[in-house]
Amino acid sequence: MQEKQSIHGTWASRWIFILAATGSAVGLGNIWKFPYITGENGGGAFVLMYLVCILLVGVPIMMAEVFIGRRARKSPINAITELAQEANKSTKWSILGLMGMLAGVMIFSFYSVVAGWVLHYIALMGSGEFVGASSDKAGEIFNGLLGDPKTMLLWHTVFAIMTVVVVIGGVNKGLERATRILMPALFVLLVILLGYSATTDGFAEGFDFMFHFDASELSWDAVLIALGHSFFTLSLGMGTIMAYGAYMPKKASIGSTVITIAVLDTVVALIAGLAIFPIIFANNMDPGAGPGLMFVSLPVAFGQMPGGQIFGFMFFLLVGVAAWTSAISLLEPTVAYLVEKLKWSRVKASIILGVIVWAIGISCLLAFNEWSEFKLFGKNMFDLLDYATANIMLPLGGILTALFAGWVVSKKVSLEETAISENLHTVWMFTVRFVAPIAVSIVFVLNLK
Ligand code: PHE
Repeated sequence: MQEKQSIHGTWASRWIFILAATGSAVGLGNIWKFPYITGENGGGAFVLMYLVCILLVGVPIMMAEVFIGRRARKSPINAITELAQEANKSTKWSILGLMGMLAGVMIFSFYSVVAGWVLHYIALMGSGEFVGASSDKAGEIFNGLLGDPKTMLLWHTVFAIMTVVVVIGGVNKGLERATRILMPALFVLLVILLGYSATTDGFAEGFDFMFHFDASELSWDAVLIALGHSFFTLSLGMGTIMAYGAYMPKKASIGSTVITIAVLDTVVALIAGLAIFPIIFANNMDPGAGPGLMFVSLPVAFGQMPGGQIFGFMFFLLVGVAAWTSAISLLEPTVAYLVEKLKWSRVKASIILGVIVWAIGISCLLAFNEWSEFKLFGKNMFDLLDYATANIMLPLGGILTALFAGWVVSKKVSLEETAISENLHTVWMFTVRFVAPIAVSIVFVLNLK
């Protein structure tokens, strides 16, 4: 039988799929968010919880997403519908795909704002703005940016356009080309920065902060944050990996493919932490500084160190590249769906979606200044979109995907598609049927207090 193909294209090889999915996974979540939530939640115990979530919940769900996409070779909504029909079950499960598209739009809106800050910081770092700067000055620069909607709008717009341009190029000429250029650049920058950080005085302290274990530091709230982050960082629960899976070349074991992606993503997060915390400690700064950690403490630290201007510039370049490859993957599932469903051209779908997410992004950047008074559930627009997606929508999308793959799709199909050994498949099945849904539900319920 002829292999089914996606109408959008197919990755040139299994490695391109791995790199593209890693490009989606490695992003602001790893370099900006992971260090600051680790800092806010006390370090070691939080890191351990995060690792457990990646392994027990993230990896099995990622396997499910890849094989669902690959079997149907369609965008998430249509892929789920097709597999449900194949199993003679309700096609209502496709709501999952709808929720995912919504989550993608919501995430992009605040993601692009932060990525815009990063672009602004590449320029600031490169021009030596932070050389010798005090933390007061760095704080002023960052708060100055937050209070300046015009500058934020400019960079948010630049980033949104960069992203849309790649998505317009399509799977091979856009996504794959970006992957081939940006991913090697990302790894080179990362290794250089790690080498730099290993020579700083605070390395041992930074290492200890991330890996010492103190159970008393754990709270249910921290567990929810770790869980939500494991979905966010692996790009799970919203259809991104499903969409990318639809472009995967012929059969290959999904187990090792997914583990490679998860390991690469985790390694980058840990390296980002190991690059950031030593610099923080070497300069006696506060690891719990929150979202400003990367934008305030780090520039000061770089500004006081030899070679800091160039390494600081490279650091923000790295973050920018990582954010770009992730942002592309936030739009792709919805663009693919619009092309399939409404028969729009890719150009039209990308531009229309781009304008929508760009406009919602404006409400996020205004949350720091003109609209800072406006709050829903006690949160401004930016925090609300971040919280609702990472801590609610992605875990929910994730459990539903697990239940769908474990209970709705037949065992025969999942065994055939994952192409893993029968024993491993039994473990996988047990995890998606019981472990992942139950664990996520418990964390949800305990947080409802
Ligand atoms: N995984 C990306 C990051 O860590 C964010 C992302 C989430 C991308 C969901 C796509 C889908 O930054």
